[in-house]
Amino acid sequence: MQRARLRFEFAADTLRDLDHGKNSFTLNPFARIEYLEWAKAQYARVKFDAASNGRPAMSLAGLGEVSRLLGELGSYQAALEREAEAAVAGWVGCAASDVAMTPGTSGALFAVAAALGGRGVRVAVERPTYEPLWRAFQAVGAAVRFFKRPSANAFQPDLASLKTALTRGARVVVLSNLHNPSGVALDRGVYKDVVALASRHGARVVVDEVFGDLVPRPVRAHVFSREAVSVASLTKAYGLGALRFGWVAAPPRIAARVREVVSYTMGTHAFPSLRLGIAALARIQVLHREAVGETTRARGSLVAWAKRAGLNLSPTSAYFGLVDVGRRFDDRAFIDALIRKRATISAPGSFFGAPGCLRVSAVSPSAPKALARLAAALGERVEAEAHS
Ligand SMILES: Cc1ncc(COP(=O)(O)O)c(C=O)c1O
Repeated sequence: MQRARLRFEFAADTLRDLDHGKNSFTLNPFARIEYLEWAKAQYARVKFDAASNGRPAMSLAGLGEVSRLLGELGSYQAALEREAEAAVAGWVGCAASDVAMTPGTSGALFAVAAALGGRGVRVAVERPTYEPLWRAFQAVGAAVRFFKRPSANAFQPDLASLKTALTRGARVVVLSNLHNPSGVALDRGVYKDVVALASRHGARVVVDEVFGDLVPRPVRAHVFSREAVSVASLTKAYGLGALRFGWVAAPPRIAARVREVVSYTMGTHAFPSLRLGIAALARIQVLHREAVGETTRARGSLVAWAKRAGLNLSPTSAYFGLVDVGRRFDDRAFIDALIRKRATISAPGSFFGAPGCLRVSAVSPSAPKALARLAAALGERVEAEAHS
């Protein structure tokens, strides 16, 4: 457990120095989210980016007259929060009372974990997985176990391993659609089976849909179950991550609880962000067509790249996917060297519970060069092995 020395100042006459002896404080044992700490440090360092899986930042001009939008801001406006909920509800196809606004999908994940998790609650999370999906639940004291989405199953959930987790008492099932890291869309039949299995065991399904809008007809969890919870944002598909405009869509009782959790973590929302997010949703049909067009183009170039390089790419519906380089491949060491020697980055599979793999993406402006450099480095490695 990580220990930290903190100096706490009370009123001047009771100034205490807690640096020493038995009064030392211990930080709350939140585990680091290894992948995010690594990504924050590394992504900005490189020139050639085959790692980022969000579309490049959208120009604010795409949202209308910004000075007018922001000029109207005052202090806390419950009405604006309700307006944002209604705008999201209109886009995802549910009632406004089902929506709670959150700081990005990350904030939504944490709020859902705080609302549904808690000490001892058993939670089943897909694997490979985006690390915060399980860390959020772990942080609130839940007991996490994993079920498989194996490459041999085209990254669809393995129902037998899900059933084992449910039989052992899992009350929450967490997955992503599209799947991060493989980019695979959940098969509708498998989706129905997952929801039915969870419901038979009295468990609730939580789906991270942050990549959901990359496909022409986004699939929302509540279509499969009115009890399901989904989390999403305008971050990935729309290049609006800077707004931190995210949400939870859930049965009203859970949405209300999420609003209460948000009061703990951020008090009130960042109202400039709500305004701009609402402006984006007012033109979401156009923005969505652009997102799908860009995904189709970048996905095409990713698939062609993998084919040329003779790499085994996951059957992705996104502009990113997972390539399997082989069990003996040290993905972390390879990417560290790629950053150092070639100023190029992709995401090591180990961070997602997929050792021996790389998550590659074709969406950044430098992606064509980055992918060419990555393929060259992989080729040299194969050659070096052949001569060793
Ligand atoms: C599956 C998944 N969920 C959530 C997020 C974070 O989204 P946001 O920036 O909206 O918090 C990411 C970012 O990589 C992601 O891959």
